[in-house]
Amino acid sequence: MRAAVLREVGAPLTVEDLELAPPGPGEVLVRIEAAGVCHSDLHYMTGDLPARLPIVVGHEGAGVVEALGPGTSGRIGVGDRVALLWRPRCGECDACVAGDPALCRFGRVLADTNGLMDGTTRLRAGDEAVHHLMGVSCFAERVVVSESSTVAVPEGVPPEIAAISACAVITGVGAALGVVEHAAGRPLLVLGAGGVGLAAVLGATLVGATPVLAVDLDPARLELAARFGATPMPAGDDLAERVLEATSGGVLWAIDAVGGAGTLRQALACLAPGGTLVAVGLNRAGATVDLPINDLVQRRKRIVGALYGGANPRLDLPRIFALYLAGRLPLDALVGARRPLDEVNEAYAELRSGALGRTVLLP
Ligand SMILES: NC(=O)c1ccc[n+]([C@@H]2O[C@H](COP(=O)([O-])OP(=O)(O)OC[C@H]3O[C@@H](n4cnc5c(N)ncnc54)[C@H](O)[C@@H]3O)[C@@H](O)[C@H]2O)c1
Ligand SMILES: [Zn+2]
Ligand SMILES: [Zn+2]
Repeated sequence: MRAAVLREVGAPLTVEDLELAPPGPGEVLVRIEAAGVCHSDLHYMTGDLPARLPIVVGHEGAGVVEALGPGTSGRIGVGDRVALLWRPRCGECDACVAGDPALCRFGRVLADTNGLMDGTTRLRAGDEAVHHLMGVSCFAERVVVSESSTVAVPEGVPPEIAAISACAVITGVGAALGVVEHAAGRPLLVLGAGGVGLAAVLGATLVGATPVLAVDLDPARLELAARFGATPMPAGDDLAERVLEATSGGVLWAIDAVGGAGTLRQALACLAPGGTLVAVGLNRAGATVDLPINDLVQRRKRIVGALYGGANPRLDLPRIFALYLAGRLPLDALVGARRPLDEVNEAYAELRSGALGRTVLLP
């Protein structure tokens, strides 16, 4: 089974033949049909985020169930098409019981062990154990994942759409559907027009925000955001001035899909009094940002983090598929280049240098 392995931080991924053990209790074997090129994997490749090496990367994927381990629930069967969740749920911790499974304690356990739910790995290269990223590791021909990492994909949703929906789309659209409130008829700002930012533009449009202002450094990405209906705003030191002027005093909602200290500060400055900054972009572990205290307090601004777009993936991914099938969410336009698994390093080089839309690997 071929898979893209991160063996050394900063080095290219190596596409290797690995052994994949059969699914254990509560696990399923999935043949990957499509996997999205998300910036979060890049954070692991550069060492921004820590992982146990070697590890198979990729966490935005979809495929077909080929086998069930013992003791699965019956919710998913052989032959079903599934999207893979990078936060499986235990169902028993406080966050799961409270209906917020994106904060399931297993998120932490998986990050600590880079194994599956029991902390062990199904992947080997000869004698060497190979780790799982976020319980998914879908830059591979096949994966073994927890059944709780799967959501059924309805007929009519193509593999590429199912794959990108499992991270970029649920994060960006989810932030607009589930975190942002009362945006209809009001301006909303999105920083970053990569896969997640463009999905946020689509989500903001869906909930009626208008205009949706999109910011990026890259003119071609801004042009793509404009094709999605956004008003393009080139990044620059005077961004806040331009946004305040264009919106007669600022936006009530800004979604930061970059994760830089600079973009967070700018997004806060672009808020109208009472506005909320939704932080979605990630940075290296431990990165910090300086913020103006009095602006926050006196203008009663808020900053909220939105992991997984603040969504409950088992409930919200089917909503996204339904919106796509109803023609309300034009996700086909979000898919950029399609590449074979062997071109994974080229795909990440292009992500850094200006890929348009979400690149999808077809293993
Ligand atoms: N919160 C979550 O659950 C979650 C989920 C997925 C991804 N992420 C994170 O979201 C971020 C975006 O992911 P992506 O896959 O869309 O990345 P991407 O690389 O496709 O897009 C990032 C975009 O930001 C733009 N950009 C960079 N610096 C900028 C600046 N100073 N001002 C304006 N634009 C700037 C880039 O040109 C690019 O278009 C990453 O940090 C990723 O790890 C978070
Ligand atoms: Zn992702
Ligand atoms: Zn849990």
